[in-house]
Amino acid sequence: MQQSRESWASKIGVVLAVAGSAVGLGNFLVFPGRVAANGGGAFMIPYFIALILIGIPLAWMEWTMGRFGGMLGHGSAPGVLSAMVKRPYARYLGSIGVFGPLLILFFYVYIESWLLGFIWYALTGELAVASSSAETMGAFFRDYIGLKTTFSGIPAALFFFFIAFLLNFGIIYLGIRRGIETISKVLMPLLLVLGVIMLIRVLTLKGISSGLGFLWNPDFSRLLDINVWFAATSQVFFTLSIGIGTILTYASYVKKQQDIVLSSLTANAANEFFEVIIGGTIVIPTAVIFLGAAGAQDVARQGAMSLGFITMPMIFRQFTFMEANIGSIFQVLWFVLLFIAGLTSSISIIQPGISFLEDELELSKRKSVIVLAPVTLFYCLMVIFGMNAGAADEVDLWGFQFSLLFFGMIEALLFARIFGRDRGLAEMNRGADIRLPGFLTPVICYVTPAFLVVLLILWLTKGGGMDAILLNNLKEAQVSFIGLKMSNRTFIVLVRGCLLLFLAAINFAVYLAWKYKRSQDGVIQ
Ligand code: TRP
Repeated sequence: MQQSRESWASKIGVVLAVAGSAVGLGNFLVFPGRVAANGGGAFMIPYFIALILIGIPLAWMEWTMGRFGGMLGHGSAPGVLSAMVKRPYARYLGSIGVFGPLLILFFYVYIESWLLGFIWYALTGELAVASSSAETMGAFFRDYIGLKTTFSGIPAALFFFFIAFLLNFGIIYLGIRRGIETISKVLMPLLLVLGVIMLIRVLTLKGISSGLGFLWNPDFSRLLDINVWFAATSQVFFTLSIGIGTILTYASYVKKQQDIVLSSLTANAANEFFEVIIGGTIVIPTAVIFLGAAGAQDVARQGAMSLGFITMPMIFRQFTFMEANIGSIFQVLWFVLLFIAGLTSSISIIQPGISFLEDELELSKRKSVIVLAPVTLFYCLMVIFGMNAGAADEVDLWGFQFSLLFFGMIEALLFARIFGRDRGLAEMNRGADIRLPGFLTPVICYVTPAFLVVLLILWLTKGGGMDAILLNNLKEAQVSFIGLKMSNRTFIVLVRGCLLLFLAAINFAVYLAWKYKRSQDGVIQ
């Protein structure tokens, strides 16, 4: 066992860090849009079923496996799974738990950086001008992400991206306690304050009841649509940050005797508050008030980005308080809220890669950052310059859709079948402030894994996953990538090749790590 492994300084610290990971752009941008598009209040039925049958149990499993691995000096999926299973395949399978989070990062940190840019433009007043009409605001956003807007001579989107990127790795470099824990302890309460300020203002708007009615009015007929169930389940995965090894890594820094059952539940409850109460109230209901029901529907259909970056600034621009226009203040508050939510999430998807390098390759924190940052930067730039050509969608397919479902399923199966029901549950309950309710035992051991297997099969067949993987529905088109013209199919194959190379490199590192394993590993193997 490594003596020098880091740990969280306090229980509240790890809860806030996990809540920080969970509360992200998904809560404020994706959730409200999905509710509006999938039957309003009726969407909450599959959502809560998925939360109880998959979300909360899988989170408990990740915390348990993570703390178990951490005791043996492993903080990332290759090490944790191999400590559990003790067969070579486990550590290679675990490589997906390092790969997946980083895939998500390549796109996530870029979007996060737009928020930083928009905070800047909200402060300078440029946003207040641009947000006067849908045309000007749309053009402002498109110019920004199209790298046309410049800032000190370089594209503004690149400039702010570098700042966001450095900020993320800077926090990671400071470590679990001084970096992640400290930042979560400061930013999460701030996020709550910002969220509540916005919530109060929105709840006191005239016509809010019709706005809330629009969002939550249940359309039960939609429950017969399998896609509504997919949307609900994937939202649960995404919003709780589970299924991909992120929580696993955070939990590996929890002390052996420290509670995880209640901590996990608390972090999830905090996430649900930010999602259902704050996210669900701010976005769509205000859109109904300012744009009418039809307008809000249109907006929900246009997707999360257009909602967050075009519609909401236009709506906030019209906010008043006692006759005074406070629009610019709310634009700033909105983007600060989203940026904080994003930052505490993106650091959590870097840490698995860092823990892997530290624990398995025995690099120092400094060296781990020096190795990981340039590699990540390369892939981020691929997404940034290849966004129009389809690179972001490809990363989304493998990261958000495939890895989450696939690795989530692996985790649940391994926990239930190999870790074993009794041992797994005993491990979970050690030091627990509340014990796992007995009726949940069969859920965790049978229902959750079975549900996930079915879900993966359904995603591949009915959910269009296989078609997306085989590029069946791709409409041929010419795209341009850093000045090179090629067919979109060629480009996607190229991106896929680059991603595969990355996965191969992680697997090679896994191979090397175990080949030259330190002597004490005999205890674990
Ligand atoms: N939960 C975050 C959100 O709602 C995103 C996120 C962070 C995430 N880490 C993750 C999603 C790991 C899946 C897996 O925005």
